[in-house]
Amino acid sequence: MKKFYFAGNWKMNLLKEQALALTKSLKDAYGKLDKHQIILAPPFLLVPYLLDLLAGSKIKLACQNASQERSGAFTGEVSPLLIADLKIDYVILGHSERRALYGETNALVADKVKLALESSLRPIVCIGETLEIREKNLENSYVEQQIQAVLVKLTAEQARQLLFAYEPVWAIGTGKVASPQEVELMHRHIKSYVQKFYPEALEPPVLYGGSVKPDNAGTLAKIKEVDGFLVGGASLEFALFDKIIQNSLPSLA
Ligand code: PGA
Repeated sequence: MKKFYFAGNWKMNLLKEQALALTKSLKDAYGKLDKHQIILAPPFLLVPYLLDLLAGSKIKLACQNASQERSGAFTGEVSPLLIADLKIDYVILGHSERRALYGETNALVADKVKLALESSLRPIVCIGETLEIREKNLENSYVEQQIQAVLVKLTAEQARQLLFAYEPVWAIGTGKVASPQEVELMHRHIKSYVQKFYPEALEPPVLYGGSVKPDNAGTLAKIKEVDGFLVGGASLEFALFDKIIQNSLPSLA
């Protein structure tokens, strides 16, 4: 059975009580699940509350971003050293919203990934093409560039710690999901590219993200190359996230 990651990216959603209620329901249902990994990525301010609530459970936390700097005069930024200090395991980096709305370039994402690894965090590196790129059939080389920018800054040992999330930009929050064939081909491409770059590194886990919902989760989870989901909208409601997990489990057996 493959180990599967169910990561919920809450983005800038939920207030404290809603977040605590959702987390409590997930803890009651999945707090002891150890065959697969559930990861919640709340907004920064909620992290300490969730840490307390999840103490002793198998559910892990991720931050949605981290700085490329260790410390200093960087108002509004959060250091990966602080994230690691709070015993958080994962950090999502290079999400397409960070790239599109906050100008994060491949080079900046690579610096963030490097420092996150040096801080002992496991980065979930988001990659994926826009519709324009896919319509020109350039998605493979586009994604390669995103990966290459990160890998050139790392040692093979560091590269082993990475997870990738393939999130075609045109599928995020749009209800359009990539077809199983598109997902399978791209995930294979990503894994082969990383292996070609660092033959010593293991094939990285590659999560799929972009309109994962209860009705497509089972089909996507069945694809051999898919090691998990990065779920946005459908991770905000217990009933939906729970159904995504429940509908995936038979495909993973
Ligand atoms: P979505 O978002 O599930 O709402 O499409 C996915 C993501 O942005 O990680």
